[in-house]
Amino acid sequence: MRTSQLALNLPSPLAELHDDRLRAQGIRLLLKRDDLINPAIPGNKWRKLKYNLAAAKEGGHRRLLTFGGAYSDHIRATAAAGHHFGFETVGIIRGEEHRPLNESLAFAVDHGMTLAYVDRTTYRNKPVPERFRPCYVLPEGGSNDHAVRGCADLPAEIDVGFDVLCCACGTGGTLAGVAATLHGDQRALGFAVLKGAHYLNDEVRRLQREAFGAATTNWMIDHEAHFGGYAKRPHELTEFVDDFQERHDIALDPVYEAKMMCALFRRIDAGEFAGTTIVAVLA
Ligand SMILES: Cc1ncc(COP(=O)(O)O)c(C=O)c1O
Repeated sequence: MRTSQLALNLPSPLAELHDDRLRAQGIRLLLKRDDLINPAIPGNKWRKLKYNLAAAKEGGHRRLLTFGGAYSDHIRATAAAGHHFGFETVGIIRGEEHRPLNESLAFAVDHGMTLAYVDRTTYRNKPVPERFRPCYVLPEGGSNDHAVRGCADLPAEIDVGFDVLCCACGTGGTLAGVAATLHGDQRALGFAVLKGAHYLNDEVRRLQREAFGAATTNWMIDHEAHFGGYAKRPHELTEFVDDFQERHDIALDPVYEAKMMCALFRRIDAGEFAGTTIVAVLA
């Protein structure tokens, strides 16, 4: 098995955001910079893979197999993790092959991943082709019980008192994990980036039960933060991203981080968090 050094910036930095909109309401807003953990395996990808890699190794597996679309960050991160930790990797990709490969898939192949394309209908059943067995299967998006336990390690890294922990929600795995290890009156607030993703409430409870045996009631999901849908970038969002970049020199990713931060500032402007300390996870 080949392995190479992987530099992980852990615990990820916690940076206070200085912003006049916060000062006016006595709010402290800290950014948990999981996006800086590693360039190839950013924050929530690393947290989700960590215990899965251990489980795969413990189970004697030499091959990881997972699923994703042609632009999946999870596919990319799985390829990088396999490369660094000595696993073969297989990516089952939704849809047809397009040449030349886009940047994400080219990265995956450069890191040793074998790609197999399946049509959209077949993909729904998440098939594991016989030729790739045996293998350790990671779900699409990476959220399973090990992933949730990995995300649950995040709150303990925060060494200041806080009231609310915010994260973006795609599969709900991050929210399920971070909410599980909050203390006392601390609350978690997730921002769904998909439109009409109300199933996520059940999904977060399911993931918590799978990982810890019980669901917690200290979290909620904002379902009005999708800005029109997953890949939509309305004017309000791009304007927020440009303004945030100018104020704080941080380029928010438009699909997850920007929606969370923009919706959080909407709530702050509405007076919801006066006098509290908030931690927002960039992942
Ligand atoms: C930057 C960022 N934030 C949040 C999430 C959401 O994570 P989850 O799928 O655990 O809900 C993702 C998922 O890819 C992400 O890339």
